[in-house]
Parts: sequence; structure tokens; C-alpha cells
Amino acid sequence: MKNLFIVYSLLSIFILCSCGGGGSKLSNSSTIPSSAATLSSSSSSVTPSSSVSSSAFSWSSVPALKDLAAFPIGMEVSAADQERSIFTYTSQLPTIEKHFNSLVAGVIMKMGHLHPNENEFFYADADRLNTYAIDHNMLLHGHTLIWHWDSEIPDWMKGYTGDWATMLNNHVKQICTHFAGKVASWDVVNEALDEYDPSGFRQSIFYQHLGKSYIENAFVTARKADPNAILYYNEYNIESSQTKLNFLLAMLDDFKLRNIPVDGVGFQLHLDVFNPSIEQLKQSFKAVADRGYKIRISELDMPINYISTVTLTDSLAQQQKARYKSIVQAYLEAVPVSQRTGITFWGLVDGESWYNYLGSPNKEWPLLFNDDYSPKPAFYGVAEALAGK
Ligand code: XIL
Repeated sequence: MKNLFIVYSLLSIFILCSCGGGGSKLSNSSTIPSSAATLSSSSSSVTPSSSVSSSAFSWSSVPALKDLAAFPIGMEVSAADQERSIFTYTSQLPTIEKHFNSLVAGVIMKMGHLHPNENEFFYADADRLNTYAIDHNMLLHGHTLIWHWDSEIPDWMKGYTGDWATMLNNHVKQICTHFAGKVASWDVVNEALDEYDPSGFRQSIFYQHLGKSYIENAFVTARKADPNAILYYNEYNIESSQTKLNFLLAMLDDFKLRNIPVDGVGFQLHLDVFNPSIEQLKQSFKAVADRGYKIRISELDMPINYISTVTLTDSLAQQQKARYKSIVQAYLEAVPVSQRTGITFWGLVDGESWYNYLGSPNKEWPLLFNDDYSPKPAFYGVAEALAGK
């Protein structure tokens, strides 16, 4: 666990510090033509917070985010017996059900949970989440079939001495077969690139055993097992590091030539308020969109506490609002309508954000909602962008 914290801390510091394009301040982006559906007429008992009243645009009631977008609006949830499980922590449900029409499990659909032993797959927790999603007209996005994260790789796999290609293909095949017709889409491979490695590929356990072939094999196997699922390659920092983006584009171009079935790219977007510049973000979306791929923002959140404050100041909250707004505007501007497959936020309320479990002494407020489920200025930034305001 300590190691986990250290690595996560390094990861978050890395994410926070990463700068690829030289943008150093919030960018004002131009007005974006809205692709969003009409404004929600749904009412709510929550009134907009006073900190938003300075905005040029004000809402008479809290709009439902999902009604503002022509694509799925998702959130990462805890499930099963996790601390903030939607099945036990039910006070969050009205907010989730109002605003989101797509869900992704933060933990329970990762490798170690779905495939705890070589000959044992465990689906009950994910099936329960899937039933919840169906009952509430939500999509379920599968995350993730292959991820290098040490604590998410089952021990049996780490010590596996047989044929790795066969073993990994079976892992993908069994899981995709089970969830065929249930999940709308999969992050087939997550975080396989490394801009600091000359090869461009992360030296993960999978890479060490199989080289880069494990990536394409996973997509080919997933497609065969579930021909209807939308298959994503999911990655962080491709919007901030031109080197990493170039590695991604080279991989995608190679895959396209050889008909490897990748349908889309997930941009995680664990971003701060400084980097990348909005222009660089748009260029990154565009480079992938120009190649015809679907694009989803897959893990959006935004640590803001670069001044080590103990409470979220109004000034920081407004900075965060502006940044959220321009990120969503960038997505709408750079990605053609037919290739926009959704925006997913990595959690609901600030207190539950993974950033507050990384071991950092600084409290963080990365998400759209306060712990009492009232919407933050950041929420209105997203809502305004979606509504074209
Ligand atoms: C994180 C979850 O939020 C944590 O709850 C879990 O302990 C570790 O994983 N990139 C990803 C996600 O693709 O799976 C990670 O989620 C955050 C970084």
C-alpha cells in the first residue's frame, strides 16, 4: 500500500508537472457552437451556488448534465463493498441518476477483480453494476482489460510461467464474451505507452513477456469475442506530451495499416489548470480525430490546490470553472459530432476523488460536486460549455 501511495504520488506529481506545449495560463477559448441537446427542463431542489452568480450566464435551476449533451455523460463509481459503493452509500444516487447516463467502475472491472485466479473469473460485482446501469438507462463502459498497474495485476498472472500470449488472449476473450451485449465499450488496453522510453512503450510485465504484440492481440481478441463493443485505447498525457502523442499516432497508424480493430481513443485528462494549453489540447484531439477515431474524455478531473490552501477559495473555484469550461469547449470544437463518444468524470464529489487518497498532505477539490452534492462552479463551467453559453 505504501508503494502504491508513492507511485501514485509520483504519478500525480508527474501529471501535475507535465508540460508539453508551453501553455502556462488559463486560455480563453472562443464561443463554441453547441452540439448539445436542448436545455433540461428538469427541476431540482439544489440551487446554484452564489459563487456562480457573477457568471454572465445564470441558471434558474440546476440542469441535468446528461440533458445538455448529445453524447454520454459518465462518471466513475465505486461498487461492491468499496467504501463509497453506490450500493451502500445511497445518498449519492439522486445526483448520479440526475446527471449521468454512463458509468465506469473505478476498481471492480480491473484485471485482478475479474480474473482472480488462472481458472477463475469473478463477475458477480460487475454484473450487479451492469444491472443497476440497465435499470437506470445508463451505459456501462468496461475499464480495463489490460493495465500495467501492479496492484491490479493478479498474483497468479505475475508469476505465470506458461505461454503468455495464449494466457492473455484467454483473459480478454473470457471477459469480453461474458460482457458481450452488456458493456457498450471497453478500454481494451490502458496506459501502454511511455514517452520516456525510447521504444515509446511502457516496460510493463506484458511488454516484457510479449513486446508490443500484446496490444494488438488484445484488440483482435476483444473484437472477436464481442463484435459490438466499441474498443478504446486509453491513455494519459497524450494531450500534454507531444512525444507521447507522436508515439500514440505512430501506433494507431501502424494498426490502421494492419486492420487492428481500434475504434477510439480515451483521453484520460487528469489535468491541472495550467497545462496543456487549450490550443495544445485541441491539436491533440484533432490529430486523433483526423484519423477517424472516436474520442472520449475518459477520466476527467482537475486538482486545483497549487497554493496549499486548506479550503477551496472562490478564486480557485472560479479558475477551475473556467478551465473545465474551456476543456469541454475544446472537445466540442476539435472533435466532429460523429466522433464524440462521451465525457466521463473520475468521481462525483471532491471528498471521494482518488487525489485525496494519494498520500499527499494537500486536500484536493478536483470534481464537479461538493461533498453535500451541491454543484460547484466547475459544474456550471461544464454545463455552460455543453449548452453553448
Ligand atoms: C484509480 C482509481 O481511481 C483508484 O480508486 C484505484 O485505487 C486505482 O486506480 N488512471 C486510470 C484509472 O486509468 O484506472 C485510475 O483509477 C486512475 C489513473
